[in-house]
Amino acid sequence: MLQLSVIVPTFNEVGNVVELRNRVAAALAGIDWEMIFVDDDSPDGTAQAVREMAQADRRVRCIRRVGRRGLSSACIEGMLASSAPVLAVIDADLQHDEKLLPQMFALIEGGGLDVVVGSRYVASGGIGDWDESRATASRLATRLSRVVLKADLHDPMSGFFMIRHDAVAACVKAGLSGVGFKILLDLFATSPMPLRYRELPYQFRNRVAGQSKLDTNVAWEYFVMLLDKFMGGVVPIRFIAFSLVGGLGLVVHLLVLTLLFKGAGMSFLWAQAAATMVAMTSNYVLNNVLTYRDLRLRGWRFVRGWFSFVLACSVGALANVGIADYLFQKDSFWVSSAIAGVLVGAVWNYAVTAVYTWKSPKSA
Ligand code: GDD
Ligand code: MN
Repeated sequence: MLQLSVIVPTFNEVGNVVELRNRVAAALAGIDWEMIFVDDDSPDGTAQAVREMAQADRRVRCIRRVGRRGLSSACIEGMLASSAPVLAVIDADLQHDEKLLPQMFALIEGGGLDVVVGSRYVASGGIGDWDESRATASRLATRLSRVVLKADLHDPMSGFFMIRHDAVAACVKAGLSGVGFKILLDLFATSPMPLRYRELPYQFRNRVAGQSKLDTNVAWEYFVMLLDKFMGGVVPIRFIAFSLVGGLGLVVHLLVLTLLFKGAGMSFLWAQAAATMVAMTSNYVLNNVLTYRDLRLRGWRFVRGWFSFVLACSVGALANVGIADYLFQKDSFWVSSAIAGVLVGAVWNYAVTAVYTWKSPKSA
């Protein structure tokens, strides 16, 4: 009977997957296991390498996702594709210590635990030779996570853990964010019942083949995920990102306006018009890179997207002013009138651009 599925998210890991399978197989002797690689159509041919391996070893499978990106969502899809009662998640790049797997499994089988976490931040664990800035960033992210975390985990950022399938199923039902890199934190913050866990120390190894995919976007996605959890998941996660970008746009607008009106002596009307265009464009670019990273428009579609974005937001601005003015005429307080106008405009902009700018039939 299948006892354990090992889920491996991959993006450009062609040089690592065979070695990882061999090491995992050696570590898990005596346990009935399978490995599910979830590959986001890596250009280096990772999925093909896994398929070749799977031809000769039925315990290996590959889920290939096309037109999608994301470490967390890959893990979720891999876990949902498994029929095993226990699931492990491990990086493909050999940085996690696969020799911990049997001990994790024994602990879960022993009962009383839902999750066993491979932890860098408990006694005799460690982060290898990360540079100082990455180490600081990791510690900062860990501290921030306390806002949404219901458990006193030392290493909620870990991407190496084992979990019972029923615990995952409950989280999926309760609504995981599935955004970004931090699947373990997502699980802990979402679980409807407190997860019973234990942490096992391990030394984070250095990467040998391939490159890390951690970039500044990952930090943004992390922040958006925390906000989503903090707000209890009632607001769509893309709307949160869209609104944050909108807030930045306001800053850009005021900056350009000040420069042109106060600095360059332009008329207020022209300065305001120019500031509006610059802010719309910067909002468009930022949303394209951050909010819609997975559906990012490029080349010709980027230009087309800019037109539809500006058009949609112009209508949104009209709605904003119209509603604010209507409320103000009806003797509402000027501040609440303005906020109502901005809210209606923002929701309109979000809803219309979600459909016409980023999810037109061609890009779907
Ligand atoms: N399917 C898929 N899609 N896999 C991805 C993607 C993606 O968009 N991005 C990264 N991966 C895979 C990589 O191929 C690798 O197997 C694993 O996810 C981790 O990615 P790295 O780019 O190597 O991340 P890292 O080493 O900086 O961070 C890791 O260590 C952290 C500290 O423990 C990750 O495991 C983090 O989750 C972990 O917190
Ligand atoms: Mn790595």
